[in-house]
Amino acid sequence: MSTPRFNRALFGNLTVIAVLVAVAVLLLRLHLGEGWWLASPLPWQWWSAAGVGAVYAFACFVLWWRVRPRKEPASDTGQPPLLIVWASQTGFARQLAERSAQSLRAAGHATRLRALDQVDAALLGSSHQALFIASTTGEGDPPDHALAFLRRVMPQASALPELQYAVLALGDRSYEHYCAFGHQLDAWLRAHGAQPLFDLVEVDNADPDALRHWQQLLGQLGGTASNVPDWSAPEYQPWQLQSRRLLNPGSVGGPVFHLALQPAEGALPSWQAGDIAEIGPRQSAAAVQAWMQAHGFDPGTRLPDGRLLGELLAASQLPEHAADIDIAALAAQLRPLPHREYSIASMPGEGNLQLMLRRQLRPDGQPGLASGWLCDYTQPGDRIDLRLRSNRNFHPPAADVPLILIGNGTGIAGLRAHLRARIDAGARRNWLLFGERNLAHDFHFGDELQQWQRDGWIEHLDAVFSRDGGAFHYVQDALAAHAQRLREWIDQGATLLVCGSLQGMAPAVDAVIIDALGSDAHEALRITSRYRRDVY
Ligand SMILES: Cc1cc2nc3c(=O)[nH]c(=O)nc-3n(C[C@H](O)[C@H](O)[C@H](O)COP(=O)(O)OP(=O)(O)OC[C@H]3O[C@@H](n4cnc5c(N)ncnc54)[C@H](O)[C@@H]3O)c2cc1C
Ligand SMILES: Cc1cc2nc3c(=O)[nH]c(=O)nc-3n(C[C@H](O)[C@H](O)[C@H](O)COP(=O)(O)O)c2cc1C
Repeated sequence: MSTPRFNRALFGNLTVIAVLVAVAVLLLRLHLGEGWWLASPLPWQWWSAAGVGAVYAFACFVLWWRVRPRKEPASDTGQPPLLIVWASQTGFARQLAERSAQSLRAAGHATRLRALDQVDAALLGSSHQALFIASTTGEGDPPDHALAFLRRVMPQASALPELQYAVLALGDRSYEHYCAFGHQLDAWLRAHGAQPLFDLVEVDNADPDALRHWQQLLGQLGGTASNVPDWSAPEYQPWQLQSRRLLNPGSVGGPVFHLALQPAEGALPSWQAGDIAEIGPRQSAAAVQAWMQAHGFDPGTRLPDGRLLGELLAASQLPEHAADIDIAALAAQLRPLPHREYSIASMPGEGNLQLMLRRQLRPDGQPGLASGWLCDYTQPGDRIDLRLRSNRNFHPPAADVPLILIGNGTGIAGLRAHLRARIDAGARRNWLLFGERNLAHDFHFGDELQQWQRDGWIEHLDAVFSRDGGAFHYVQDALAAHAQRLREWIDQGATLLVCGSLQGMAPAVDAVIIDALGSDAHEALRITSRYRRDVY
């Protein structure tokens, strides 16, 4: 799934070296004229000096213009604006910070953008949410301008319990200390009591997949941001919906569907447990039809290149205003729909790609963009734009490592793929903790999981249903009750996988792990990748 990627850092360094050599050659020419030492410079040398001076002054102006203090929009909610902080050596982190700010502003969020050296303890203390976009340079070092923060702010800042944060760590896997500064910031924020909004996202050499993932997470930050188009659209492949089945009829929760998909042509590609399907959603046919009617377009209208306007609209955000605009201009202004990510619930050996989706509702009662389309509008046989994303962070450990799998709701999707892969690998030391609302309606894959337990593939199966009045309310309560077993499994080298709700479940499970094992052991599990999370 990985393709060779363009190395920005190398390109940047080579460009700087080439420019310096060119300048050196030009300056050398100044020494070649006659009378350099005895007379005043020749007129052309005066003109060259003036030209260089002007270029220098212009460059200074451009640099100042880029960092000039800008008026920051106020927040409608009375909350302080979302703080976006960058730490960058060669400019990429800064560029991404600006794009993140732009995306969030386009979605109506007030933001303030700062270089890390412009951040002090007071600013952190007065912010409620902060995004840190930080690169690593040297041999695992922070960018130069970040040193002021490391020396002045880090040793002195007090606790930050009110701050919710996320870190986008830029790096290059070929270096020994991969994304080290991003991790250092993350650990420091955590140690000061700040609450992670989601897990740190590592970006290996500008990896577009990781950047799209970051964008999806930005979208989750505040609802409306979820419609901002992707910075770089995934290169989808055509797949086909094979079947769709409602998994929880009668549930008090939102409907959950099981979907099976096949590539439209060719063989099933391979993927690993933990990988993600990126889906390119579409507008429903009814929404496209209604929009075209409202804006006076005939359903058969074609674009100058022969495509049907309706097809382009289906993959685009439907603009509110399209009066008095010719069709070519309309096509040029349409913005593509953003992608959505779903945990893959099956393994390639099962013959298809399975997903598990909960239909989301927007505040106006309309179904969510992608979940509505996949759960309500698509029919078996329909084309689905899909791309696989390798999710290295959530890949399985070796088969001889005991595995603790914890999840709630649709989080069981990613965990099921892991269990399937463990069975294929002959790995029996599996402990699953799963939480939902009612046993009667919401025990997704329940029969299969119980069968796997009977067959000895799941050593312990703790299914917890919050509305049934059983011994435990939530999955974290079951984990806390089995703290002794948790310690034993961890002592035996177990890895922990957590998949499901970012709100509620993930932080509560985290707290139980800290309680049962202590903060140092918890930190060690994270650093050694024995505690992996895929939460959303
Ligand atoms: C790594 C990862 C794995 C995932 N795996 C799964 C999975 O296996 N199964 C699954 O069901 N989901 C999964 N998700 C979540 C999924 O990607 C989508 O976020 C989810 O389906 C909702 O997308 P949507 O387009 O249907 O809804 P959207 O249209 O994006 O709406 C989602 C929510 O945003 C809010 N919102 C949207 N628009 C507005 C607005 N105008 N104003 C205010 N609020 C608004 C609403 O609260 C709404 O419920 C995963 C996410 C990630 C990041
Ligand atoms: C001289 C140099 C040293 C680097 N050292 C590391 C490193 O130790 N660890 C790492 O993960 N990435 C390292 N990188 C990769 C950068 O973090 C990566 O290219 C990043 O995208 C640069 O972002 P920036 O432009 O915001 O500084 C290094 C890059 C350069 C040019």
